[in-house]
Amino acid sequence: MTGYLDPFIRGVDHHLLADIKKAIQGEYNAIHCYQLLAEQAPSSKERKQILEIREDEIKHYNQFINLYYRLTGKRLKPQVTESCPSNYLEGLKFSIEDEQETVDFYLEISDKAKESYIRKLFKRAAKDEQNHAVWFLYFYTKYCCKKAK
Ligand SMILES: [Fe+2]
Ligand SMILES: [Fe+2]
Repeated sequence: MTGYLDPFIRGVDHHLLADIKKAIQGEYNAIHCYQLLAEQAPSSKERKQILEIREDEIKHYNQFINLYYRLTGKRLKPQVTESCPSNYLEGLKFSIEDEQETVDFYLEISDKAKESYIRKLFKRAAKDEQNHAVWFLYFYTKYCCKKAK
């Protein structure tokens, strides 16, 4: 698709724009912190999976940046705004909660959006985030069970 999305040429939905901005910032922080988390992973298998999750976040980031551009004509340039958790276990705990919250947030955006392209984009991203949450929960459980033995 090229050009701006029709319904927003006449009246930009400012709540939607604020939500997309927040989503872009969240993806940007996740891309940064998942790089550090991958480096702390105890096995190459886990590292590879975290890097795959990070690839999904890069894809979401690019999709949302492009969407924001099509709605406003502006290119956002986010900065890292959060510090990442300091160790692997804390990183997993943080990521499980963050991914779960992001699922809710994206589904809300999807439900509120009037344009079907935006609805689909956020619904699909929500499914990815749900999948990420399950991977992180699995790693967390594995890590804790191993420690408890
Ligand atoms: Fe994401
Ligand atoms: Fe995610």
